[in-house]
Amino acid sequence: MPVTIQQLIQWKQKNRPIVALTAWDYITAQLIDAAGVDLILVGDSMAAVLGYENTLPITLEEMLFHAKSVRRGIKQALMVVDLPFLTYQESVQQAMQSAGRVLKETGAQAVKLEGGYPAIAQTIERLVQAGIPVMGHVGLTPQSVHQLGLKQQGKTDTESEKILKQAIALEEAGAFSVVLEHIPNELALQITQKLSIPTIGIGAGVHCDGQVLVTSDLLGLSERQPPFAKVYTNLREQITEAVEAYSLEVREQKFPQ
Ligand code: KIV
Repeated sequence: MPVTIQQLIQWKQKNRPIVALTAWDYITAQLIDAAGVDLILVGDSMAAVLGYENTLPITLEEMLFHAKSVRRGIKQALMVVDLPFLTYQESVQQAMQSAGRVLKETGAQAVKLEGGYPAIAQTIERLVQAGIPVMGHVGLTPQSVHQLGLKQQGKTDTESEKILKQAIALEEAGAFSVVLEHIPNELALQITQKLSIPTIGIGAGVHCDGQVLVTSDLLGLSERQPPFAKVYTNLREQITEAVEAYSLEVREQKFPQ
């Protein structure tokens, strides 16, 4: 049976960790879905796979194009799509149009928005009222790279209090889950205990209700990984070796046989 939002909330109550990964195309989605991942995020971190410097340039059209191909690869996992930079911050109407396009055109079950209280929480409230499930995202929010950098957030008391307040505001606004990115473990624990919706951590320690990684980091495909990522296999090396072997065999007329 396909994973539902209600199930994610029950899994938090049962202490059953949620497994999430990102995908950017049909083949990745098909493989990670078949391997049993619970939630697949078409994250705007896909910008790196497309050769962008950061997540800011990626457009809604690009997200829609990739999300449609991801959808075709999913049988079980819940699918969430990031709304890219400046496709939801301008007004509730803009957010409604962008999120509406994602749900209508890609078949995803939910959207994810970065940021917290007050403006984003208000936007989330309106989206949820319109029947659009929303995942929040606080802590390090890569769309704010020019304000925050890519460093850990929530290290001072003031910062951590702010992030906790943001997470609470997102739950109150109706978000069904919230991503906690690159914050101290103790803060993630505090937020996870305070919220009744699941927290999905990335660089936020083991106490979150679930974990998400960027799949190209996990597979060792990315040119560089954040310090908190774990590389489970090195596909860059394997691809290079395979291509070099093929090139050699073609040049030595060993392939085709
Ligand atoms: O874009 C993305 O992949 C994300 C994850 C880091 C959670 O937002």
